[in-house]
Amino acid sequence: MAAGAGTMDVVPAPIPVILDVDTGVDDACALLLAELHPSLNLQAVTCVAGNAGVDQVVTNTLAVLAAAGRTDVPVARGTARPLIEVPREARHVHGEDGMGDLDHAFLGLPPVTAAADPRHAVELLRDLLDEAHERTEPVTLVPLAPLTNIALLLRTYPQAAKGLRHIVFMGGAANIGNATASAEFNVWQDPEAAAVVLDACRELSVPVTMYGLDVFYDVRVTRVDATTLSAGASAVARLAGALVAFQCERFGIDDATVGDAGAVCAVIDPDGLRTTALPVHVELTGARTRGQTVVDRRRWAGDVRHDPHGVAPTVVDVATSVDAERWRRLWLETVRSQ
Ligand code: BDR
Ligand code: CA
Repeated sequence: MAAGAGTMDVVPAPIPVILDVDTGVDDACALLLAELHPSLNLQAVTCVAGNAGVDQVVTNTLAVLAAAGRTDVPVARGTARPLIEVPREARHVHGEDGMGDLDHAFLGLPPVTAAADPRHAVELLRDLLDEAHERTEPVTLVPLAPLTNIALLLRTYPQAAKGLRHIVFMGGAANIGNATASAEFNVWQDPEAAAVVLDACRELSVPVTMYGLDVFYDVRVTRVDATTLSAGASAVARLAGALVAFQCERFGIDDATVGDAGAVCAVIDPDGLRTTALPVHVELTGARTRGQTVVDRRRWAGDVRHDPHGVAPTVVDVATSVDAERWRRLWLETVRSQ
């Protein structure tokens, strides 16, 4: 048939996604993108202790969903602490309430009327993934927080992995740290959980992309963008503007990362991200390196053969560079769209 004669454009079905969050200023940026972008079908959000205590994380998450009128998305409370580590919140980064201490009434944000789902996050994830498997519509899971919920899920209900297409997690790094000189916050907060998730994904054949600090800071929006957003007509735009402005103020700079939102961009627009498949090991014992993701880039088999540790068994698609301008536009256009 000649092109254009009787053909119809096929619009791909939205990608089913679930976010696991510790909202979090940049988790909020990620939620805004996931709840609004037409390429995604946001099926649920699960919460875990991280940037703030888990109850505060639930409150913050419900507020971000309410801003976009997405009270249809179930939100579940998960674990209140890491598996072994003591919880260490990040109020010095994210403010006392974990989400920028914003004046919700001043911003004209709608009041939160929805309640959390009665199920524990792990049970909600299990239910949704089992259903996804039955429908043969596997879900992309996007953890943006310590991996405690996901470790518990995969060890308690490993069959749920059949409902997973892919895990794209924000955490770790090949080259840098933030919580310590060597470790990224989400992995450092619960290193055992991160190690369990990598091990379980290998065992259960779930592909994993590590959206780590090597790219996390690269997708940035400016104070000028924040001012434009803040003058916007929608609650979403004003919230987005306030989140960016908070970060600029806190760090005394003129632009801010969209942070965790980059991992959501990776699902919407994978061509904007470059990755390399590499073995990754989570360091659990080092005094100054606990929580480091050791990314093995050795090329010579001779070195590997003589290494008593050998090679980590889990191979992960490690994010190495990002088209920052493309994703900056993706985020800005989406949060302005409502
Ligand atoms: C990660 O830690 C948290 O503070 C952010 O929300 C992000 O998920 C960056 O290391
Ligand atoms: Ca986070």
